[in-house]
Amino acid sequence: MVISDDVPEVVVKHFARNLVSWQKKHGRHSLPWQNTRDPYRVWLSEIMLQQTQVTTVRDYYARFLQRFPTVADLAAAQTDDVLALWSGLGYYSRARNMHRCAQQVMAQHSGEFPRNAQQLQTLPGIGPSTAAAVASFCFAERVAILDGNVKRVLTRVLAFSGDLSKGPKVRLLWRIATNLLPQTDLDETMPRYTQGLMDLGATLCTLRKPKCAGCPVQSMCQGFTESQPEKYPIKTRKVKRSAQSLSLLWAQRPDGSVWLERRPDSGIWGGLYCLPVFESEDALRVFLPEKTHTQLESLRPFKHVLTHKDLRLSPFIAGFTAAQELPSKVLQAGEPELAGAWFSPGEWPALGLPAPIRKLLEDDGL
Ligand code: ADE
Repeated sequence: MVISDDVPEVVVKHFARNLVSWQKKHGRHSLPWQNTRDPYRVWLSEIMLQQTQVTTVRDYYARFLQRFPTVADLAAAQTDDVLALWSGLGYYSRARNMHRCAQQVMAQHSGEFPRNAQQLQTLPGIGPSTAAAVASFCFAERVAILDGNVKRVLTRVLAFSGDLSKGPKVRLLWRIATNLLPQTDLDETMPRYTQGLMDLGATLCTLRKPKCAGCPVQSMCQGFTESQPEKYPIKTRKVKRSAQSLSLLWAQRPDGSVWLERRPDSGIWGGLYCLPVFESEDALRVFLPEKTHTQLESLRPFKHVLTHKDLRLSPFIAGFTAAQELPSKVLQAGEPELAGAWFSPGEWPALGLPAPIRKLLEDDGL
């Protein structure tokens, strides 16, 4: 028998129960953000885990909590300090939104995160799936997450062939995901179910070569029955990757200090400190006034991969004397000047620097 939204009854009846039992026995139980119902800690982990692997997040998470143990500490921080701790995690809008979110929790919610997904979603940087993760982990609310891993699990179990780049199909899958949630004993089952979905997607129901033999929902999985679970989710048209070449000016004084400027909040490396960036070597040379530097030497170009773009970065190192300054750089008519200053190597660790720039400076261009 097929019930709501064409989901077989066996799935509605047994999916949550099987998943919850499996999580208890075989799921992950000692990740640093587990075994707590503190919404600050859970929220922090969920934001960090968007687009970033668990292994990378572990160290950042520990450092972040050590520096900002409570939402009040984070709200009171300088944006530059937050970005500095985030340096290397990428997607810096996450850090800026997180900081704003902490400030709103303090200013508008008396320092307490709202206790349901609907209200959590009104805060900066918290989308429906993150809100559901926090609400289900911390407050046992019966709400569905739908991140990439969960989409994969559900589309396989249901042989769901809709195009998930289309809003109506995502909304349909979300409705189905809500129908599949546990019905009873929510305080115990909701956190376990949410974690179970994440664990299943990360460990067994993987993008390639899923390990169906150990799967708790194999018996009801239509992708498995069709012998082609990897067909789901249906591939949608990919955004074509682009490539861009940029020249970097590494202006250095004899004491080792380097000229860094703060990037505009929007665009690549928004809000971070960076070597001055130019569209071309010519633009860099035009910017650099004659006689203000002792030499200009090109270093080996390197590639840096962003989500939709490959960057080819060509650094040029120029020696400056102690008394010299660089002019402020105006990006385009109407855009604010980028504030620049000399920063000594001892100051770099505390600055928010893009990972490739930090690596370049710390590895001395090698
Ligand atoms: N990815 C997103 N949230 C997660 C969590 N709580 N545990 C492991 N991986 C995750």
